[in-house]
Amino acid sequence: MTDHDTAPADAQSTTNTPSAATAANVGELPPGRPLQSTFDDGLDYPRLGTVSFRRGTLTDNQQRLFVEHWPRVGKVLSDERIDVDQWFGRTAPTIVEIGSGTGTSTAAMAAVEQDTNVIAVELYKPGLAKLLGAAVRGNLDNIRLIRGDGIEVLNRMIAPESLSGIRVFFPDPWPKAKHHKRRIIQSGPLRLFASRLRPGGVLHVATDHADYAEWIDELVNVEPSLEYMGWPWEDCPQLTDRQLITKFEGKGLNKDHVIREYLWRKRG
Ligand SMILES: C[S@@+](CC[C@H](N)C(=O)[O-])C[C@H]1O[C@@H](n2cnc3c(N)ncnc32)[C@H](O)[C@@H]1O
Repeated sequence: MTDHDTAPADAQSTTNTPSAATAANVGELPPGRPLQSTFDDGLDYPRLGTVSFRRGTLTDNQQRLFVEHWPRVGKVLSDERIDVDQWFGRTAPTIVEIGSGTGTSTAAMAAVEQDTNVIAVELYKPGLAKLLGAAVRGNLDNIRLIRGDGIEVLNRMIAPESLSGIRVFFPDPWPKAKHHKRRIIQSGPLRLFASRLRPGGVLHVATDHADYAEWIDELVNVEPSLEYMGWPWEDCPQLTDRQLITKFEGKGLNKDHVIREYLWRKRG
């Protein structure tokens, strides 16, 4: 499910401090057309078109957590080039996860890779709120959150050759042929992912959708600066065990779906 946010506040109104208006605006994308880059490299990029927009409300507790913690650990898509060292208050390998959903695997992985900075990018605010809650409860200070389209976040906010890893777990499969152009794994995003990885950096993709897996199979060698390592990659320099079965993965497993994982290494 993809939500593309063109509308203002989707948070429920609240009477919490500092003020209802401020609270509802925390973590909101600015109104109007979402930022959308034009790439002129001749590659294929997702075209989201007019996608249905999944709204969701935050509980009062999630809203309180947002107001208290988002200013420090969250950002909304913008043209700010992030100073990652400053944001995390340290210099450490940094991994961006695109489409973190409710963040179950994000939090579980972050807990066992505390030496790594993890930036979760997601459009869906209640998903980010769940992850924020898990990070606060678990004292996970190595997680930061960005609300926005992962393609735009990487292009605008993340410096070239700065990341140790990029994760895309169970991306929306867009099963209908007419929607395949919305899939995030295409030649253009692969070029963009590669550009943000430092040499030796790892791209990790997982899907439980057989047709999407066939689609990815066709693309594994399309980006010359990414060396396809397959799965498993015994000496992979970063955590590849997702630690638990995510909500979507669980659904897939119940239907006897096969999970396919893909790893690439940035050349250079
Ligand atoms: C099928 S869910 C998987 C969520 C999670 N990775 C998991 O395994 O449970 C895909 C998620 O990607 C998010 N998403 C889709 N397109 C995105 C984009 N361009 N940028 C950021 N998030 C996106 C959706 O909102 C959704 O939460």
